[in-house]
Amino acid sequence: MCGIIGYTGKDIAVPILLGGLERLEYRGYDSAGVALLEGDKLFIKKRAGKIRELVRSLWGKPLKGKTGIGHVRWATHGEPTEDNAHPHTDSKGEFAVVHNGIIENYLEIRKELEEEGIKLSSDTDTEVIAHLISKFYKGDLLEAVLEAVKRLSGAFAFAVISSKEPGRIVGVKEGSPLIVGIGEGENFLASDIPAILPYTKKIIPLNDGEVADVSPEGVNIYDFSGNPITKEIMIVPWDLISAEKGGFKHFMLKEIYEQPKAVGDTLKGFVSKESVLPIDLREFRRLIIVACGTSYHAALIGKVWIERFVNIPVEVIYASEFKYGHTPLSPDDIVMGISQSGETADTKFSLQSVKEKGVKTIALVNVVGSSIDRESDFSIYTHAGPEIGVAATKTFSAQLAALYSLAAFYSMEREALFKKVSSVPMKIEKALEGAEHIEVISEKYMKAKDFLYLGRYLNYPVALEGALKLKEISYIHAEGYPAGEMKHGPIALIDENMPVVCVAPKDRVYEKMLSNIEEVRARKGKVISIGFEGDGTLKELSTEFIEVPSVEEELTPFTTTLPTQLIAYFIASKLGLDVDQPRNLAKTVTVE
Ligand code: F6R
Repeated sequence: MCGIIGYTGKDIAVPILLGGLERLEYRGYDSAGVALLEGDKLFIKKRAGKIRELVRSLWGKPLKGKTGIGHVRWATHGEPTEDNAHPHTDSKGEFAVVHNGIIENYLEIRKELEEEGIKLSSDTDTEVIAHLISKFYKGDLLEAVLEAVKRLSGAFAFAVISSKEPGRIVGVKEGSPLIVGIGEGENFLASDIPAILPYTKKIIPLNDGEVADVSPEGVNIYDFSGNPITKEIMIVPWDLISAEKGGFKHFMLKEIYEQPKAVGDTLKGFVSKESVLPIDLREFRRLIIVACGTSYHAALIGKVWIERFVNIPVEVIYASEFKYGHTPLSPDDIVMGISQSGETADTKFSLQSVKEKGVKTIALVNVVGSSIDRESDFSIYTHAGPEIGVAATKTFSAQLAALYSLAAFYSMEREALFKKVSSVPMKIEKALEGAEHIEVISEKYMKAKDFLYLGRYLNYPVALEGALKLKEISYIHAEGYPAGEMKHGPIALIDENMPVVCVAPKDRVYEKMLSNIEEVRARKGKVISIGFEGDGTLKELSTEFIEVPSVEEELTPFTTTLPTQLIAYFIASKLGLDVDQPRNLAKTVTVE
Protein backbone atom coordinates (compact mmCIF):
# COMPACT_ATOMS: atom_id res chain seq x y z
CA MET A 1 0.00 0.00 0.00
CA CYS A 2 2.43 2.68 -1.15
CA GLY A 3 6.04 2.86 -0.13
CA ILE A 4 7.85 5.95 1.08
CA ILE A 5 11.51 6.75 1.49
CA GLY A 6 13.48 9.76 2.64
CA TYR A 7 17.21 10.47 2.55
CA THR A 8 19.29 13.31 3.94
CA GLY A 9 23.06 13.15 4.12
CA LYS A 10 26.41 13.48 2.47
CA ASP A 11 25.62 11.80 -0.86
CA ILE A 12 23.53 12.70 -3.89
CA ALA A 13 20.03 11.63 -2.96
CA VAL A 14 18.49 10.56 -6.26
CA PRO A 15 20.20 7.15 -6.76
CA ILE A 16 19.58 6.28 -3.11
CA LEU A 17 15.91 7.20 -3.41
CA LEU A 18 15.42 5.34 -6.70
CA GLY A 19 17.21 2.21 -5.43
CA GLY A 20 15.10 2.33 -2.29
CA LEU A 21 11.91 2.75 -4.30
CA GLU A 22 12.82 -0.25 -6.43
CA ARG A 23 13.08 -2.32 -3.26
CA LEU A 24 9.76 -0.88 -2.07
CA GLU A 25 8.00 -1.36 -5.38
CA TYR A 26 6.30 -4.48 -4.07
CA ARG A 27 4.21 -2.15 -1.90
CA GLY A 28 2.68 -0.31 -4.84
CA TYR A 29 3.52 0.08 -8.47
CA ASP A 30 1.00 2.18 -10.30
CA SER A 31 3.00 5.41 -10.18
CA ALA A 32 6.16 6.76 -8.60
CA GLY A 33 7.85 10.07 -7.84
CA VAL A 34 10.62 11.91 -6.03
CA ALA A 35 11.10 15.37 -4.55
CA LEU A 36 14.64 16.71 -4.11
CA LEU A 37 16.07 19.80 -2.54
CA GLU A 38 18.12 21.29 -5.35
CA GLY A 39 19.75 24.39 -3.87
CA ASP A 40 16.94 26.42 -2.38
CA LYS A 41 14.28 24.96 -4.70
CA LEU A 42 12.21 21.80 -4.70
CA PHE A 43 12.60 19.63 -7.77
CA ILE A 44 9.71 17.22 -8.32
CA LYS A 45 9.44 14.43 -10.84
CA LYS A 46 6.67 11.87 -11.01
CA ARG A 47 5.36 9.41 -13.52
CA ALA A 48 2.37 7.11 -13.88
CA GLY A 49 3.33 3.46 -14.26
CA LYS A 50 6.20 1.47 -12.91
CA ILE A 51 9.29 2.92 -11.37
CA ARG A 52 11.30 2.39 -14.57
CA GLU A 53 9.20 5.18 -16.12
CA LEU A 54 10.37 7.51 -13.39
CA VAL A 55 13.98 6.37 -13.77
CA ARG A 56 13.79 7.04 -17.54
CA SER A 57 12.38 10.50 -17.00
CA LEU A 58 15.30 11.38 -14.71
CA TRP A 59 17.94 10.01 -17.04
CA GLY A 60 20.69 12.58 -17.75
CA LYS A 61 19.32 15.19 -15.33
CA PRO A 62 22.15 16.85 -13.39
CA LEU A 63 20.59 16.43 -9.96
CA LYS A 64 22.87 17.18 -7.03
CA GLY A 65 20.44 17.45 -4.10
CA LYS A 66 21.43 15.57 -0.96
CA THR A 67 18.00 15.59 0.64
CA GLY A 68 14.90 14.05 -0.88
CA ILE A 69 11.81 11.91 -0.53
CA GLY A 70 10.31 9.31 -2.84
CA HIS A 71 7.12 7.32 -3.27
CA VAL A 72 5.65 4.30 -5.02
CA ARG A 73 1.87 4.35 -5.12
CA TRP A 74 -0.97 1.87 -4.78
CA ALA A 75 -3.95 4.03 -5.59
CA THR A 76 -6.67 4.50 -3.00
CA HIS A 77 -8.04 8.00 -3.74
CA GLY A 78 -7.79 9.00 -7.37
CA GLU A 79 -6.69 7.08 -10.44
CA PRO A 80 -3.04 6.15 -10.98
CA THR A 81 -2.24 9.22 -13.11
CA GLU A 82 0.77 11.51 -13.03
CA ASP A 83 -1.25 14.25 -11.30
CA ASN A 84 -2.24 11.88 -8.55
CA ALA A 85 1.27 10.45 -8.14
CA HIS A 86 3.24 11.61 -5.11
CA PRO A 87 5.03 13.80 -3.99
CA HIS A 88 2.30 16.42 -3.61
CA THR A 89 3.10 20.04 -2.90
CA ASP A 90 1.45 23.15 -1.55
CA SER A 91 0.44 25.89 -4.01
CA LYS A 92 3.81 27.69 -3.85
CA GLY A 93 5.80 24.49 -4.31
CA GLU A 94 7.65 24.94 -1.02
CA PHE A 95 6.56 21.78 0.78
CA ALA A 96 6.54 18.28 -0.70
CA VAL A 97 4.81 15.31 0.91
CA VAL A 98 4.84 11.56 0.28
CA HIS A 99 2.19 9.55 2.07
CA ASN A 100 1.09 5.99 2.75
CA GLY A 101 -2.37 5.32 4.16
CA ILE A 102 -5.67 7.16 4.06
CA ILE A 103 -6.67 10.59 5.38
CA GLU A 104 -10.27 9.80 6.19
CA ASN A 105 -11.41 13.41 6.67
CA TYR A 106 -9.67 14.77 3.58
CA LEU A 107 -12.90 15.87 1.89
CA GLU A 108 -13.76 18.12 4.81
CA ILE A 109 -10.21 19.60 4.85
CA ARG A 110 -10.23 19.96 1.08
CA LYS A 111 -13.48 21.93 1.24
CA GLU A 112 -12.06 24.22 3.90
CA LEU A 113 -8.88 24.83 1.90
CA GLU A 114 -10.91 25.56 -1.23
CA GLU A 115 -13.03 28.04 0.70
CA GLU A 116 -9.78 29.77 1.67
CA GLY A 117 -9.00 30.12 -2.04
CA ILE A 118 -6.48 27.27 -2.32
CA LYS A 119 -6.61 25.35 -5.60
CA LEU A 120 -5.92 21.63 -5.31
CA SER A 121 -4.38 19.94 -8.28
CA SER A 122 -5.03 16.24 -7.63
CA ASP A 123 -7.85 13.92 -6.55
CA THR A 124 -5.79 12.46 -3.72
CA ASP A 125 -6.30 12.62 0.01
CA THR A 126 -2.56 13.36 0.36
CA GLU A 127 -2.44 16.79 -1.18
CA VAL A 128 -4.30 18.38 1.74
CA ILE A 129 -1.34 17.53 4.01
CA ALA A 130 1.04 19.70 1.97
CA HIS A 131 -1.40 22.62 1.98
CA LEU A 132 -2.04 22.31 5.72
CA ILE A 133 1.71 22.29 6.50
CA SER A 134 2.22 25.35 4.32
CA LYS A 135 -0.68 27.09 6.02
CA PHE A 136 0.67 26.39 9.51
CA TYR A 137 4.33 27.11 8.70
CA LYS A 138 5.80 29.89 10.82
CA GLY A 139 9.50 29.20 10.45
CA ASP A 140 9.72 25.66 11.87
CA LEU A 141 8.83 22.59 9.81
CA LEU A 142 8.34 20.31 12.80
CA GLU A 143 5.89 22.72 14.43
CA ALA A 144 3.93 23.10 11.20
CA VAL A 145 3.74 19.32 10.81
CA LEU A 146 2.55 18.85 14.40
CA GLU A 147 -0.13 21.47 13.82
CA ALA A 148 -1.23 19.81 10.57
CA VAL A 149 -1.37 16.37 12.18
CA LYS A 150 -3.97 17.67 14.66
CA ARG A 151 -6.32 18.10 11.71
CA LEU A 152 -5.84 14.64 10.21
CA SER A 153 -7.76 11.48 10.97
CA GLY A 154 -7.19 8.05 9.49
CA ALA A 155 -4.22 5.71 9.28
CA PHE A 156 -1.18 7.28 7.68
CA ALA A 157 2.56 7.70 7.51
CA PHE A 158 4.10 10.59 5.62
CA ALA A 159 7.36 12.41 5.07
CA VAL A 160 7.79 16.06 4.21
CA ILE A 161 10.64 18.26 3.01
CA SER A 162 10.67 22.00 2.46
CA SER A 163 12.74 24.38 0.35
CA LYS A 164 12.73 26.64 3.41
CA GLU A 165 14.67 24.12 5.51
CA PRO A 166 17.25 22.26 3.43
CA GLY A 167 18.61 19.07 4.95
CA ARG A 168 15.56 18.41 7.09
CA ILE A 169 12.91 15.70 6.67
CA VAL A 170 10.01 15.29 9.04
CA GLY A 171 8.26 11.91 9.13
CA VAL A 172 4.98 11.10 10.86
CA LYS A 173 3.53 7.72 11.80
CA GLU A 174 -0.08 7.06 12.72
CA GLY A 175 -1.38 3.68 11.66
CA SER A 176 0.88 3.00 8.64
CA PRO A 177 4.46 1.78 8.99
CA LEU A 178 7.50 4.08 9.11
CA ILE A 179 11.04 3.36 10.23
CA VAL A 180 14.05 5.60 10.69
CA GLY A 181 17.42 4.35 9.39
CA ILE A 182 20.52 5.56 11.19
CA GLY A 183 23.65 6.02 9.07
CA GLU A 184 27.01 7.79 9.38
CA GLY A 185 26.51 11.43 8.41
CA GLU A 186 23.25 10.42 6.75
CA ASN A 187 19.85 9.28 7.91
CA PHE A 188 16.80 7.73 6.33
CA LEU A 189 13.06 7.26 6.58
CA ALA A 190 11.29 4.33 4.94
CA SER A 191 8.13 2.27 4.97
CA ASP A 192 10.10 -0.93 5.23
CA ILE A 193 13.58 -2.26 5.92
CA PRO A 194 14.71 -3.49 2.44
CA ALA A 195 14.53 0.10 1.14
CA ILE A 196 17.52 1.16 3.23
CA LEU A 197 19.27 -2.17 3.79
CA PRO A 198 22.28 -1.36 1.52
CA TYR A 199 23.09 1.62 3.73
CA THR A 200 22.31 0.66 7.27
CA LYS A 201 21.05 -2.13 9.49
CA LYS A 202 20.41 0.27 12.36
CA ILE A 203 16.76 1.19 12.54
CA ILE A 204 14.26 2.79 14.86
CA PRO A 205 10.70 1.62 14.16
CA LEU A 206 8.33 4.48 14.97
CA ASN A 207 5.19 3.88 16.97
CA ASP A 208 1.83 5.40 16.16
CA GLY A 209 1.67 8.98 17.38
CA GLU A 210 5.37 9.65 16.77
CA VAL A 211 7.20 12.15 14.60
CA ALA A 212 10.84 11.89 13.48
CA ASP A 213 12.84 15.03 12.78
CA VAL A 214 15.65 13.82 10.56
CA SER A 215 18.80 15.65 9.44
CA PRO A 216 22.25 14.39 8.35
CA GLU A 217 23.57 15.07 11.86
CA GLY A 218 20.92 13.18 13.79
CA VAL A 219 17.36 12.12 14.45
CA ASN A 220 15.00 13.38 17.13
CA ILE A 221 11.72 11.70 17.90
CA TYR A 222 8.69 13.42 19.42
CA ASP A 223 5.12 12.58 20.29
CA PHE A 224 2.30 14.49 18.62
CA SER A 225 2.39 17.08 21.42
CA GLY A 226 6.04 17.80 20.65
CA ASN A 227 7.51 16.05 23.72
CA PRO A 228 10.86 14.38 22.99
CA ILE A 229 10.92 10.55 23.16
CA THR A 230 13.98 8.36 23.66
CA LYS A 231 13.96 5.26 21.46
CA GLU A 232 16.26 2.30 21.18
CA ILE A 233 18.08 1.45 17.97
CA MET A 234 17.42 -2.06 16.62
CA ILE A 235 19.86 -4.00 14.48
CA VAL A 236 18.17 -5.73 11.53
CA PRO A 237 19.16 -9.40 11.22
CA TRP A 238 18.74 -9.50 7.40
CA ASP A 239 21.38 -8.94 4.75
CA LEU A 240 20.98 -7.35 1.34
CA ILE A 241 21.48 -10.61 -0.55
CA SER A 242 18.29 -11.95 0.97
CA ALA A 243 16.43 -8.96 -0.51
CA GLU A 244 17.78 -9.55 -4.05
CA LYS A 245 16.84 -12.01 -6.80
CA GLY A 246 20.10 -13.98 -6.72
CA GLY A 247 19.93 -15.32 -10.29
CA PHE A 248 16.26 -16.33 -10.22
CA LYS A 249 13.91 -14.89 -12.82
CA HIS A 250 11.48 -13.71 -10.17
CA PHE A 251 11.52 -13.11 -6.43
CA MET A 252 8.59 -15.51 -6.13
CA LEU A 253 10.58 -18.40 -7.60
CA LYS A 254 13.57 -17.59 -5.42
CA GLU A 255 11.33 -17.48 -2.39
CA ILE A 256 9.68 -20.81 -3.28
CA TYR A 257 13.17 -22.34 -3.32
CA GLU A 258 14.04 -20.69 -0.01
CA GLN A 259 11.35 -22.65 1.80
CA PRO A 260 13.56 -25.41 3.21
CA LYS A 261 15.65 -22.71 4.89
CA ALA A 262 12.67 -20.61 6.00
CA VAL A 263 11.09 -23.66 7.64
CA GLY A 264 14.39 -24.88 9.09
CA ASP A 265 15.26 -21.48 10.57
CA THR A 266 11.79 -21.06 12.04
CA LEU A 267 11.86 -24.52 13.61
CA LYS A 268 15.28 -23.72 15.09
CA GLY A 269 13.76 -20.72 16.89
CA PHE A 270 11.53 -23.14 18.80
CA VAL A 271 14.08 -25.86 19.34
CA SER A 272 16.52 -23.31 20.79
CA LYS A 273 13.60 -22.05 22.95
CA GLU A 274 14.10 -18.50 21.61
CA SER A 275 10.52 -18.51 20.30
CA VAL A 276 8.92 -19.99 23.39
CA LEU A 277 6.14 -17.88 24.89
CA PRO A 278 6.35 -16.77 28.54
CA ILE A 279 2.80 -18.09 29.04
CA ASP A 280 1.18 -21.49 29.01
CA LEU A 281 -1.31 -21.68 26.17
CA ARG A 282 -3.07 -24.54 27.95
CA GLU A 283 -4.23 -22.19 30.69
CA PHE A 284 -6.50 -20.40 28.26
CA ARG A 285 -10.04 -21.48 27.50
CA ARG A 286 -9.79 -20.70 23.82
CA LEU A 287 -7.37 -19.37 21.22
CA ILE A 288 -8.75 -17.05 18.57
CA ILE A 289 -6.59 -16.42 15.53
CA VAL A 290 -7.14 -13.38 13.33
CA ALA A 291 -5.36 -13.08 9.99
CA CYS A 292 -5.84 -12.24 6.30
CA GLY A 293 -5.18 -13.96 2.99
CA THR A 294 -2.39 -16.49 3.07
CA SER A 295 -1.81 -15.97 6.79
CA TYR A 296 -5.47 -16.89 7.34
CA HIS A 297 -4.91 -20.14 5.48
CA ALA A 298 -1.88 -20.91 7.66
CA ALA A 299 -4.09 -20.23 10.68
CA LEU A 300 -6.65 -22.80 9.49
CA ILE A 301 -3.93 -25.46 9.40
CA GLY A 302 -2.60 -24.28 12.77
CA LYS A 303 -6.10 -24.73 14.21
CA VAL A 304 -6.09 -28.43 13.32
CA TRP A 305 -2.65 -28.94 14.87
CA ILE A 306 -3.39 -27.02 18.07
CA GLU A 307 -6.78 -28.66 18.59
CA ARG A 308 -5.31 -32.09 17.91
CA PHE A 309 -2.10 -31.81 19.92
CA VAL A 310 -2.95 -29.30 22.65
CA ASN A 311 -6.67 -29.93 22.88
CA ILE A 312 -7.79 -26.34 23.26
CA PRO A 313 -10.48 -24.95 20.97
CA VAL A 314 -9.22 -22.61 18.27
CA GLU A 315 -11.33 -20.19 16.27
CA VAL A 316 -9.93 -18.68 13.08
CA ILE A 317 -11.54 -15.45 11.92
CA TYR A 318 -10.72 -13.15 9.00
CA ALA A 319 -9.27 -10.06 10.64
CA SER A 320 -11.37 -7.86 8.36
CA GLU A 321 -14.50 -9.52 9.78
CA PHE A 322 -13.39 -9.78 13.37
CA LYS A 323 -13.08 -6.16 14.44
CA TYR A 324 -16.64 -5.23 13.49
CA GLY A 325 -18.13 -8.55 14.62
CA HIS A 326 -19.46 -9.63 17.98
CA THR A 327 -17.21 -12.50 19.07
CA PRO A 328 -17.66 -12.67 22.85
CA LEU A 329 -14.28 -12.40 24.61
CA SER A 330 -13.22 -13.06 28.17
CA PRO A 331 -9.84 -12.86 29.96
CA ASP A 332 -9.67 -16.66 29.59
CA ASP A 333 -9.34 -16.19 25.84
CA ILE A 334 -6.15 -15.29 24.07
CA VAL A 335 -6.01 -13.81 20.57
CA MET A 336 -3.22 -14.37 18.08
CA GLY A 337 -2.66 -12.21 15.01
CA ILE A 338 -0.73 -13.83 12.18
CA SER A 339 0.85 -11.47 9.68
CA GLN A 340 4.07 -11.87 7.75
CA SER A 341 4.45 -8.10 7.33
CA GLY A 342 3.27 -7.31 10.84
CA GLU A 343 1.59 -4.23 9.37
CA THR A 344 -1.71 -5.45 7.89
CA ALA A 345 -4.28 -2.91 9.02
CA ASP A 346 -7.16 -5.37 9.47
CA THR A 347 -5.06 -7.63 11.70
CA LYS A 348 -3.48 -4.77 13.60
CA PHE A 349 -6.78 -3.03 14.34
CA SER A 350 -8.40 -6.32 15.35
CA LEU A 351 -5.65 -6.93 17.89
CA GLN A 352 -5.91 -3.36 19.15
CA SER A 353 -9.65 -3.81 19.70
CA VAL A 354 -8.94 -7.00 21.66
CA LYS A 355 -6.38 -5.29 23.89
CA GLU A 356 -8.88 -2.55 24.69
CA LYS A 357 -11.05 -5.29 26.20
CA GLY A 358 -8.21 -6.44 28.44
CA VAL A 359 -7.61 -9.67 26.54
CA LYS A 360 -4.00 -10.77 25.92
CA THR A 361 -2.61 -10.89 22.40
CA ILE A 362 0.13 -12.83 20.63
CA ALA A 363 1.79 -11.75 17.38
CA LEU A 364 3.16 -14.25 14.87
CA VAL A 365 5.11 -12.09 12.42
CA ASN A 366 8.08 -12.24 10.08
CA VAL A 367 9.18 -8.65 10.62
CA VAL A 368 10.74 -7.98 14.01
CA GLY A 369 9.83 -4.50 15.19
CA SER A 370 6.73 -4.28 12.97
CA SER A 371 3.62 -2.63 14.43
CA ILE A 372 1.84 -5.90 15.27
CA ASP A 373 5.01 -7.21 16.92
CA ARG A 374 5.42 -4.12 19.06
CA GLU A 375 1.79 -3.73 20.00
CA SER A 376 1.12 -7.32 21.07
CA ASP A 377 1.65 -8.67 24.58
CA PHE A 378 3.74 -11.56 23.30
CA SER A 379 5.46 -12.29 20.00
CA ILE A 380 6.74 -15.30 18.14
CA TYR A 381 8.58 -15.06 14.87
CA THR A 382 8.94 -16.78 11.56
CA HIS A 383 12.50 -16.59 10.25
CA ALA A 384 11.81 -16.47 6.54
CA GLY A 385 13.92 -13.39 5.75
CA PRO A 386 12.45 -10.60 3.63
CA GLU A 387 9.72 -11.69 1.22
CA ILE A 388 9.58 -9.40 -1.78
CA GLY A 389 7.28 -11.25 -4.21
CA VAL A 390 3.75 -10.02 -3.58
CA ALA A 391 2.42 -13.58 -3.43
CA ALA A 392 3.35 -15.06 -0.08
CA THR A 393 5.19 -18.38 -0.34
CA LYS A 394 8.09 -18.90 2.05
CA THR A 395 6.38 -16.92 4.80
CA PHE A 396 3.40 -19.30 4.54
CA SER A 397 5.63 -22.35 5.05
CA ALA A 398 7.42 -20.57 7.88
CA GLN A 399 4.08 -19.75 9.49
CA LEU A 400 3.21 -23.44 9.28
CA ALA A 401 6.52 -24.28 10.95
CA ALA A 402 5.79 -21.82 13.76
CA LEU A 403 2.22 -23.03 14.30
CA TYR A 404 3.24 -26.68 14.24
CA SER A 405 6.01 -25.92 16.74
CA LEU A 406 3.61 -24.06 18.98
CA ALA A 407 1.24 -27.03 18.98
CA ALA A 408 4.12 -29.45 19.53
CA PHE A 409 5.53 -27.38 22.38
CA TYR A 410 2.33 -27.57 24.43
CA SER A 411 1.60 -31.16 23.51
CA MET A 412 2.16 -34.25 25.66
CA GLU A 413 4.10 -35.64 22.70
CA ARG A 414 6.45 -32.66 22.45
CA GLU A 415 9.70 -34.50 21.79
CA ALA A 416 8.20 -36.92 19.28
CA LEU A 417 6.49 -34.15 17.33
CA PHE A 418 9.65 -32.04 17.15
CA LYS A 419 11.59 -35.08 16.03
CA LYS A 420 9.11 -35.77 13.22
CA VAL A 421 9.14 -32.22 11.89
CA SER A 422 12.93 -32.03 11.80
CA SER A 423 12.97 -33.90 8.46
CA VAL A 424 10.57 -31.43 6.82
CA PRO A 425 13.16 -29.03 5.29
CA MET A 426 14.72 -31.97 3.50
CA LYS A 427 11.30 -33.24 2.32
CA ILE A 428 10.50 -29.78 0.95
CA GLU A 429 13.76 -29.83 -0.98
CA LYS A 430 12.78 -33.20 -2.41
CA ALA A 431 9.32 -31.95 -3.36
CA LEU A 432 10.91 -29.06 -5.26
CA GLU A 433 12.69 -31.59 -7.48
CA GLY A 434 9.33 -32.10 -9.20
CA ALA A 435 9.35 -28.53 -10.58
CA GLU A 436 10.09 -29.50 -14.19
CA HIS A 437 7.17 -31.92 -14.34
CA ILE A 438 4.91 -29.27 -12.79
CA GLU A 439 6.07 -26.78 -15.42
CA VAL A 440 4.97 -29.14 -18.19
CA ILE A 441 1.56 -29.65 -16.57
CA SER A 442 1.16 -25.91 -16.04
CA GLU A 443 1.74 -25.24 -19.73
CA LYS A 444 -1.05 -27.67 -20.66
CA TYR A 445 -3.63 -25.93 -18.49
CA MET A 446 -2.56 -22.30 -18.64
CA LYS A 447 -5.39 -21.36 -21.01
CA ALA A 448 -8.13 -22.65 -18.68
CA LYS A 449 -10.65 -20.02 -17.58
CA ASP A 450 -11.40 -21.55 -14.18
CA PHE A 451 -9.73 -23.94 -11.77
CA LEU A 452 -11.03 -25.80 -8.76
CA TYR A 453 -8.79 -26.83 -5.87
CA LEU A 454 -10.05 -29.55 -3.57
CA GLY A 455 -8.73 -30.93 -0.31
CA ARG A 456 -9.93 -32.22 3.03
CA TYR A 457 -8.79 -31.98 6.64
CA LEU A 458 -5.28 -30.43 6.80
CA ASN A 459 -5.21 -30.09 3.04
CA TYR A 460 -8.44 -28.15 2.69
CA PRO A 461 -6.58 -24.92 3.60
CA VAL A 462 -3.85 -26.02 1.18
CA ALA A 463 -6.53 -26.06 -1.54
CA LEU A 464 -7.67 -22.58 -0.50
CA GLU A 465 -4.10 -21.32 -0.60
CA GLY A 466 -3.43 -22.93 -3.99
CA ALA A 467 -6.50 -21.21 -5.46
CA LEU A 468 -5.48 -17.87 -3.96
CA LYS A 469 -1.98 -18.13 -5.44
CA LEU A 470 -3.36 -18.88 -8.90
CA LYS A 471 -5.91 -16.06 -8.78
CA GLU A 472 -3.58 -13.39 -7.58
CA ILE A 473 -0.73 -13.87 -10.02
CA SER A 474 -2.34 -15.46 -13.11
CA TYR A 475 -5.74 -13.68 -12.94
CA ILE A 476 -7.42 -17.04 -13.64
CA HIS A 477 -10.52 -17.60 -11.60
CA ALA A 478 -9.90 -20.35 -9.06
CA GLU A 479 -11.81 -21.64 -6.09
CA GLY A 480 -10.62 -23.70 -3.20
CA TYR A 481 -13.20 -26.00 -1.66
CA PRO A 482 -13.46 -28.73 0.94
CA ALA A 483 -13.74 -31.76 -1.32
CA GLY A 484 -16.64 -33.19 0.69
CA GLU A 485 -18.70 -30.04 0.07
CA MET A 486 -18.57 -30.40 -3.71
CA LYS A 487 -21.66 -32.54 -3.87
CA HIS A 488 -23.62 -29.81 -2.08
CA GLY A 489 -23.48 -27.48 -5.06
CA PRO A 490 -20.18 -26.66 -6.76
CA ILE A 491 -20.03 -30.03 -8.52
CA ALA A 492 -22.41 -28.43 -11.01
CA LEU A 493 -19.44 -26.40 -12.29
CA ILE A 494 -17.45 -29.40 -13.42
CA ASP A 495 -17.22 -30.27 -17.09
CA GLU A 496 -14.48 -31.38 -19.48
CA ASN A 497 -12.93 -27.89 -19.46
CA MET A 498 -12.39 -27.69 -15.72
CA PRO A 499 -8.97 -28.55 -14.29
CA VAL A 500 -9.47 -29.73 -10.71
CA VAL A 501 -6.40 -29.78 -8.49
CA CYS A 502 -6.98 -32.49 -5.90
CA VAL A 503 -4.69 -32.53 -2.88
CA ALA A 504 -4.74 -36.17 -1.81
CA PRO A 505 -1.85 -37.37 0.34
CA LYS A 506 -2.30 -40.65 2.22
CA ASP A 507 -3.93 -39.36 5.38
CA ARG A 508 -7.11 -40.15 7.33
CA VAL A 509 -9.29 -38.74 4.54
CA TYR A 510 -7.42 -40.31 1.63
CA GLU A 511 -10.15 -42.82 0.78
CA LYS A 512 -12.76 -40.07 0.93
CA MET A 513 -10.64 -37.96 -1.40
CA LEU A 514 -10.45 -40.84 -3.84
CA SER A 515 -14.25 -40.96 -3.89
CA ASN A 516 -14.39 -37.22 -4.48
CA ILE A 517 -11.92 -37.61 -7.34
CA GLU A 518 -14.17 -40.28 -8.85
CA GLU A 519 -17.02 -37.78 -8.70
CA VAL A 520 -14.92 -35.27 -10.63
CA ARG A 521 -13.92 -37.91 -13.19
CA ALA A 522 -17.54 -38.94 -13.67
CA ARG A 523 -18.22 -35.35 -14.79
CA LYS A 524 -15.19 -35.36 -17.10
CA GLY A 525 -13.21 -32.86 -15.04
CA LYS A 526 -9.44 -32.93 -15.55
CA VAL A 527 -7.94 -34.26 -12.33
CA ILE A 528 -4.51 -32.83 -11.44
CA SER A 529 -3.69 -34.69 -8.29
CA ILE A 530 -1.02 -34.04 -5.69
CA GLY A 531 -0.18 -37.18 -3.75
CA PHE A 532 2.55 -39.29 -2.21
CA GLU A 533 5.33 -40.67 -4.38
CA GLY A 534 4.54 -44.09 -5.76
CA ASP A 535 0.78 -43.80 -5.21
CA GLY A 536 -0.32 -45.90 -8.18
CA THR A 537 -4.01 -45.78 -7.28
CA LEU A 538 -4.11 -41.97 -7.29
CA LYS A 539 -2.04 -41.83 -10.44
CA GLU A 540 -4.44 -44.18 -12.17
CA LEU A 541 -7.41 -41.96 -11.31
CA SER A 542 -5.71 -38.73 -12.38
CA THR A 543 -5.24 -36.94 -15.67
CA GLU A 544 -2.00 -35.56 -14.24
CA PHE A 545 -0.22 -36.77 -11.15
CA ILE A 546 2.24 -34.73 -9.11
CA GLU A 547 4.32 -36.60 -6.55
CA VAL A 548 5.49 -35.24 -3.23
CA PRO A 549 7.59 -37.20 -0.73
CA SER A 550 5.53 -39.15 1.73
CA VAL A 551 5.43 -37.74 5.27
CA GLU A 552 3.31 -38.41 8.34
CA GLU A 553 -0.22 -37.12 7.86
CA GLU A 554 0.18 -34.13 10.18
CA LEU A 555 3.12 -32.86 8.13
CA THR A 556 1.45 -33.09 4.71
CA PRO A 557 0.70 -29.35 4.21
CA PHE A 558 4.45 -28.64 4.24
CA THR A 559 4.95 -30.62 1.05
CA THR A 560 1.55 -30.53 -0.70
CA THR A 561 1.65 -26.72 -0.77
CA LEU A 562 4.74 -26.61 -2.99
CA PRO A 563 3.15 -27.92 -6.22
CA THR A 564 0.29 -25.45 -5.81
CA GLN A 565 2.76 -22.56 -5.57
CA LEU A 566 4.69 -23.82 -8.58
CA ILE A 567 1.53 -24.31 -10.69
CA ALA A 568 0.56 -20.68 -10.02
CA TYR A 569 4.10 -19.48 -10.68
CA PHE A 570 4.57 -21.34 -13.98
CA ILE A 571 1.14 -20.45 -15.33
CA ALA A 572 1.56 -16.73 -14.55
CA SER A 573 5.08 -16.67 -15.86
CA LYS A 574 4.13 -18.50 -19.09
CA LEU A 575 1.24 -16.11 -19.59
CA GLY A 576 3.85 -13.35 -19.51
CA LEU A 577 2.41 -11.73 -16.41
CA ASP A 578 4.20 -9.73 -13.79
CA VAL A 579 4.61 -12.50 -11.24
CA ASP A 580 6.21 -10.42 -8.50
CA GLN A 581 3.94 -7.43 -8.83
CA PRO A 582 0.49 -8.62 -9.89
CA ARG A 583 -2.07 -6.01 -10.82
CA ASN A 584 -4.18 -4.32 -8.14
CA LEU A 585 -2.25 -5.89 -5.27
CA ALA A 586 0.29 -4.67 -2.76
CA LYS A 587 2.51 -6.62 -0.43
CA THR A 588 1.56 -4.82 2.73
CA VAL A 589 -2.06 -3.86 3.08
CA THR A 590 -2.17 -0.91 5.43
CA VAL A 591 -5.75 0.16 4.69
CA GLU A 592 -8.91 -1.44 6.08
C1 F6R B 1 -1.31 -13.69 -0.74
C2 F6R B 1 -0.89 -12.64 0.15
C3 F6R B 1 -1.92 -11.91 0.94
C4 F6R B 1 -1.41 -11.75 2.38
C5 F6R B 1 -2.37 -10.90 3.20
C6 F6R B 1 -1.93 -10.79 4.64
O1 F6R B 1 -0.24 -14.25 -1.41
O2 F6R B 1 0.27 -12.35 0.22
O3 F6R B 1 -3.13 -12.57 0.92
O4 F6R B 1 -1.27 -13.02 2.94
O5 F6R B 1 -2.44 -9.61 2.63
O6 F6R B 1 -0.66 -10.24 4.74
P1 F6R B 1 0.16 -10.34 6.08
O7 F6R B 1 0.54 -11.75 6.32
O8 F6R B 1 1.36 -9.46 5.86
O9 F6R B 1 -0.73 -9.82 7.17
